[in-house]
Amino acid sequence: MTSSPNPAPEQTLICLQGIRKSFLSDELETRALDEVSLEIRRGEFVAVSGPSGCGKSSLLAILGLLDSPSAGHYWLNGQAVEQLDNRARALLRNRQIGFVFQAFNLIADLTVQDNVALPLSYRPELSRAERRERVAEVLAQVDMAHRARHLPAQLSGGQQQRVAIARALVGQPSLILADEPTGNLDSRNAELVMDLLQKVHGQGATLCMVTHDPRYAALAQRTVALFDGRLVADMPSAALYPRPLSSPVPASSAHAAAAKLAMPEAL
Ligand SMILES: Nc1ncnc2c1ncn2[C@@H]1O[C@H](COP(=O)(O)OP(=O)(O)O)[C@@H](O)[C@H]1O
Ligand SMILES: [Mg+2]
Repeated sequence: MTSSPNPAPEQTLICLQGIRKSFLSDELETRALDEVSLEIRRGEFVAVSGPSGCGKSSLLAILGLLDSPSAGHYWLNGQAVEQLDNRARALLRNRQIGFVFQAFNLIADLTVQDNVALPLSYRPELSRAERRERVAEVLAQVDMAHRARHLPAQLSGGQQQRVAIARALVGQPSLILADEPTGNLDSRNAELVMDLLQKVHGQGATLCMVTHDPRYAALAQRTVALFDGRLVADMPSAALYPRPLSSPVPASSAHAAAAKLAMPEAL
């Protein structure tokens, strides 16, 4: 059904209703997402947690219009996504959404500045000078201006992720989707990356971030948890992680929080 009225009130950026995602391989059906309904308000910072294979990346791929649900409805910014053709989806993705991945996903034979400029190549309304200016601005923002002409392989993991964040930001998207952005980084670089993401959120972007790290989930306003494709918890992060942000979460309490998230009773 594509003619549903938009149920989203003004402050809602994302509205999912009954989202299902199935993968078929060798006649085996994997249900990656099962009846997921979720609203995310404009400007919110939401952490997505849950054990490996529970559907977190599948959820982000659908939120980011990289993949389509098998069933259910998705309204982004009041627009019913299933009514859009491929071109309109690509345009919306390019204008509204920035992605950050665990594995950075930079293009190996493009320089840092050319990687960052990529999302702007679909913006014919921007002049060459405007593109250059935007690239320089975001590279300065992530403190990577001095590496503009390097290739990704010449950078550390932390530097590559900062470049990937610059690429996500260059189009000035309203929604940032980050899938385990600190997963491949040491704690110092992870903190730098989290500082950047928090800054972007502070400037008004909506941030939805998959993370296994309770220290970083604690920075979000809200944590939603998936288990076997189902949304099993949706609560203020402060209720799950009641410690000050600066102090590390001891392993025992991290495990308790993870166990709490994994259990359907957490509802
Ligand atoms: N392209 C795919 N083809 C088949 N199965 C997939 C595909 N992508 C994900 N899955 C399966 O869907 C489930 C959820 O995967 P995923 O969303 O990647 O989980 P997570 O990000 O939480 O680790 C897993 O069982 C995974 O094996
Ligand atoms: Mg994943």
